[in-house]
Formats: sequence, C-alpha cells, structure tokens
Amino acid sequence: MNTQPVPFRRIFLACINERPAGETSCGPRGGADVAAALKKGVNDLGLKAEVRVTKTHCLGLCAMGPNVIVYPEGTLLSGVTPADVPAILDTFVKAKEK
Ligand code: FES
Repeated sequence: MNTQPVPFRRIFLACINERPAGETSCGPRGGADVAAALKKGVNDLGLKAEVRVTKTHCLGLCAMGPNVIVYPEGTLLSGVTPADVPAILDTFVKAKEK
C-alpha cells in the first residue's frame, strides 16, 4: 500500500442512491441532478483537475437528502437542489481561491 496527499483541494460527495419504492433516498429526490449541476459548475470554472465531484451511494442520512458532503471542510449539505449549486460553489470553491 502507498500513501500520499489527496491530489484534489476539494471533494464533493453527492449522494445519488436509490432505495426501493416507499423508502426515502436522495436519488429520487434530485440527487443525480445535484451531482450533475455540481460537476457542470466545476467544469465551467475550469477546475475539474482540482475539485472532484463524486457520485456516491448512501451516506446514512437519507431523510435529510439530497445530501452532499464537502471535504476537506467535512461539511454536510442537506436538502440540496440544483438551484443551490451556484451558492455552494461560491462558498466552497470560489471564496477559497481569494
Ligand atoms: S440515500 Fe442519500 S444519504 Fe441515504
């Protein structure tokens, strides 16, 4: 096993998990749209190599979703919609560059 620093300055883990019908989960509530909007936003900023958007399965907080976890801050964003993405990028990406 090798260890090294993470080669991204920020990672968004966006839950797209889909549970069986009748169970609450992020995917059916817009999680995939949130992940796509984050990825597009990062790409539009030209930061694809530095900021990783990773679609993930359940983060264990389904009732609060759609959920996104941001590292290295370790911040949980819950109830996220695609409309929130510009503000998320302002807070966690653009503001950090200043
Ligand atoms: S389905 Fe997203 S946190 Fe469980």
